[in-house]
Amino acid sequence: MSDYKTLLIERHDAVTLVRLNRPQALNALNTQTLTDLIAAFAVYDADPDQRCLVLTGSDKAFAAGADIKEMEAQGFAEMYAANFFAGWEQVTRTRKPWIAAVSGFALGGGCEVAMMADFIIAADTAKFGQPEIKLGVTPGMGGSQRLAHAIGKAKAMEMCLTGRMMGADEAERAGLVARVVPMADLIAEALKTATVIAAMAPLATIANKEMVNAAFDLPLGQGIAFERRLFHALFGTQDQKEGMAAFVAKRVAEWTGR
Ligand code: HXC
Repeated sequence: MSDYKTLLIERHDAVTLVRLNRPQALNALNTQTLTDLIAAFAVYDADPDQRCLVLTGSDKAFAAGADIKEMEAQGFAEMYAANFFAGWEQVTRTRKPWIAAVSGFALGGGCEVAMMADFIIAADTAKFGQPEIKLGVTPGMGGSQRLAHAIGKAKAMEMCLTGRMMGADEAERAGLVARVVPMADLIAEALKTATVIAAMAPLATIANKEMVNAAFDLPLGQGIAFERRLFHALFGTQDQKEGMAAFVAKRVAEWTGR
């Protein structure tokens, strides 16, 4: 399971735990990391036995950004020709749920990858920021958009224009993270939450994820219509019959993913 150069992967029953592992560079995201993550997420998405994924870094850094040393010498033509960073869209197309468990620095691309997750659980040590302005550039992996959606214009604009870091408590107040936990408990808490998600009906899980995400893409009326149609669709599944029968019979549901 460890053909990856920049990742460590563990399986905890139905939960895949992926650790970014470039400690010498505070998990800076280079092309190899992107290649590895695209492959790891594809393996996860295709494996019916894996139902939730947790992406994490080290205690010191979730990821300190895109790899500045790799980008430094590049020109417009190379960036444009390679459509640099477009590969991250494959990670965001993961259909099954995944959580970012963030301790330490989540800066630039690190913050942007955390925001690609379905939600973030943060250690009390977490520090989020978009410091690209200090390098003479901007976020390039969706950070300006996802941050503005997550925490509103005022804070997103302030963070992008000043490059300041936001601590875990402020991030929770602002709605950037779902929950803050002590650093020592981060992985256990993230795995516990992932295990809860992994035990739910698989098709309903994907449907819930699709409809919450639709809230960021669709006008309200279309989003509500999309929700209702997916809700209707689930009445064509065995798991809807099983879930409701189990409730009525006061027993635990046994999902088949059908
Ligand atoms: C490459 C990085 C890196 C990065 C850290 N390192 N961040 N290498 N890319 N993003 C390397 C350092 O060069 C150093 O290597 C080692 O990791 C340890 O980092 P230090 O700076 O010595 O650690 P510390 O003093 O604890 O400071 C931590 C830090 C700082 C505050 C997180 O490293 C930092 O400011 N990093 C850059 C953060 C940043 O600007 N991120 C945004 C990148 S741009 P050596 O070999 O010297 O030991 C981006 C979006 C791209 O993400 C969009 C633009 C197109």
